[in-house]
Amino acid sequence: MASRYHEVYQSWQDNPEGFWKDAASEIDWVSKTDTVFDPDQGQYGRWFPDWECNTCYNCLDRHVERGRPGQPALIYDSPITGKSKTYTYAELLEEVEAFACVLADQGLTKGDRAIIYMPMIPQAVMAMLACARLGIIHSVVFGGFAANELATRIDDATPKAIIAASCGIEPGRVIAYKPLLDEAIELSKHKPETCLVYQREERKCDLVAGRDHDLGQLVESAVNEGRRIAPVPVKATDPLYILYTSGTTGQPKGVVRDNGGHMVALKWSMSNLYDIQPGEVFWAASDVGWVVGHSYICYAPLLHGCTTIVFEGKPVGTPDAGVFWRVISEHKVVSLFTAPTAFRAIRKEDPEGELIKKYDLAQYRSLFLAGERADPDTVNWAIDQLQVPVIDHWWQTETGWCMVGNPLGLGQLPVKPGSPTVPMPGYDVQILDDAGHPLGPNTLGNIVVKLPLPPSCLPTLWNADQRFHDSYLAEFPGYYKTADAGVIDDDGYLSIMARTDDIINVAGHRLSTGGMEEVLATHSDVAECAVIGIADKLKGQLPCGFVVLKSGVERSHDEIEKELVRLVREKIGPVAAFKIAITVERLPKTRSGKILRGTMRQIADGESYKMPATIDDPAILDEISDALKSHGISA
Ligand code: COA
Ligand code: AMP
Repeated sequence: MASRYHEVYQSWQDNPEGFWKDAASEIDWVSKTDTVFDPDQGQYGRWFPDWECNTCYNCLDRHVERGRPGQPALIYDSPITGKSKTYTYAELLEEVEAFACVLADQGLTKGDRAIIYMPMIPQAVMAMLACARLGIIHSVVFGGFAANELATRIDDATPKAIIAASCGIEPGRVIAYKPLLDEAIELSKHKPETCLVYQREERKCDLVAGRDHDLGQLVESAVNEGRRIAPVPVKATDPLYILYTSGTTGQPKGVVRDNGGHMVALKWSMSNLYDIQPGEVFWAASDVGWVVGHSYICYAPLLHGCTTIVFEGKPVGTPDAGVFWRVISEHKVVSLFTAPTAFRAIRKEDPEGELIKKYDLAQYRSLFLAGERADPDTVNWAIDQLQVPVIDHWWQTETGWCMVGNPLGLGQLPVKPGSPTVPMPGYDVQILDDAGHPLGPNTLGNIVVKLPLPPSCLPTLWNADQRFHDSYLAEFPGYYKTADAGVIDDDGYLSIMARTDDIINVAGHRLSTGGMEEVLATHSDVAECAVIGIADKLKGQLPCGFVVLKSGVERSHDEIEKELVRLVREKIGPVAAFKIAITVERLPKTRSGKILRGTMRQIADGESYKMPATIDDPAILDEISDALKSHGISA
């Protein structure tokens, strides 16, 4: 079948507002106006201003009302605990309404914020939907972050409540969340009024009298009492959630997502990009702490009347590299969305795909990859093993959905390995040089998107309009700066080559090296430091920190390096995967004092590099190379 992509993209270009108005007809609105887009509102305009809606209603109630009450809405599959449970749409609605009653009982109302700090359990999705039902703005914090990171988010979002679980479970260890939560509240200036804690059997925790409540008990009572609560109408432009993501400093950016545009774009993507029909089972093997989890574990599959899977496990080791195929086969998944790193991990354990052959994957039909560059080697392995289309697609926390992809629902376009293919409707993607001039095909430059951004993309940063403007709009007036660099070829295919800032991508997780440098600099023996991302076969990149010690420090370097590794784990969290700290005499710099991080990375990755013309002392590069070798990193 010839792809309809070009025709559809053209129809968006010809009439953007008409395009999104049509897409909006898939959503149930409380009220609509004639204005689809107002260019004069917000930072670059707002979608569906003054339209009213409720995201939870669109995810649950309407499916219960219209023929899907008995269909599974959410399947919890937890190889790490050996548990599983299915909730139909009617059951999920009942739980979410009871949950929302508990939130209302605690005094939370529309516009309040609630932080959700939970592992991959159904209650995390229920918490998001219960907030959405009442117009409470949720902010999910990934479980692998340390107390300090949680505290930063508490201070920025100033939540009235924190919704947490007593523990998370990683292979071989139970992680008590409660001490992290208590420490974060201790550290933060803002103090939430209430903490609702879900007690997991694997590790229960003590509750602070007056502040903490047993969430499971409260929800269970509300269910038993048959309590229901109506969805609260919110404006399409009201925030649904804040999701913090790494910026160039230790202060994360609070990406704001609105209600209306978000629903419109996600609903459009389910059929047109992912080629999924309502009633089918869609699985995003990510975490609710990341944007992929927000969009494609929680909201999009439910908006579309699909069954979603909450998977509490890892691609390998829970119990083996066949777990993805077991889940796909057992729950009749038609499409899987994950990060390339998960496939690299599976391939390492099962290079010949022996475990794949054990399962019946007859109904399975596509694999979507995002979060980091999909290397052609991994993509080709996945195609060989699974014999389904393997689609790389490019997006960011900021956009909430795909910017550049291969729309299976419109008819697949030819795949070019290494390219996520073409822009989705809504995105006019261009390449500019550093001075903002357009670059022709096949020329590397800054990837930007012409304003306005389409529905679902961030309208601003939480309480930080100026930072939003400075970070994304100021450098290239009239465009959104993605901070990725890349090229567009003669056929309009985009390739993503690198970040233009200090963000690195570790196992599909977005991390700021600047944030890690801020932590290293707090160590009393460190005079200066630089953190770079070095290539890693499994995780894509790994952080590597270089430190120069203060003069007169005579302690063992080995001991200090271990302390630095511990410090980053304590302050940022295990997810930073910071395991390499290297002491050096000096850092390579330009004559104006700028640390040559790019050149250091090239040395670490064994790439050829040009001696920077402005380097202060070229001999330092040899010292860096020697230091890397002495730490087992061959340059
Ligand atoms: N809570 C607490 N700790 C967590 C955590 C969580 N939710 N998630 C990860 N961690 C810890 C891990 O246990 C690990 O700790 P360790 O240093 O003691 O080993 C550390 O954080 C780093 O985790 P990770 O980078 O995930 O590495 P891993 O070795 O545990 O697993 C993969 C490697 C490839 C299997 C895993 O990264 C993976 O499944 N990646 C997919 C990523 C993904 O889905 N990204 C979302 C975008 S689509
Ligand atoms: P996050 O906000 O965590 O989703 O990270 C977004 C960043 O991850 C992007 O700016 C890219 O640098 C990178 N990224 C995401 N998807 C892809 C992809 N398909 N190919 C290359 N890089 C990607």
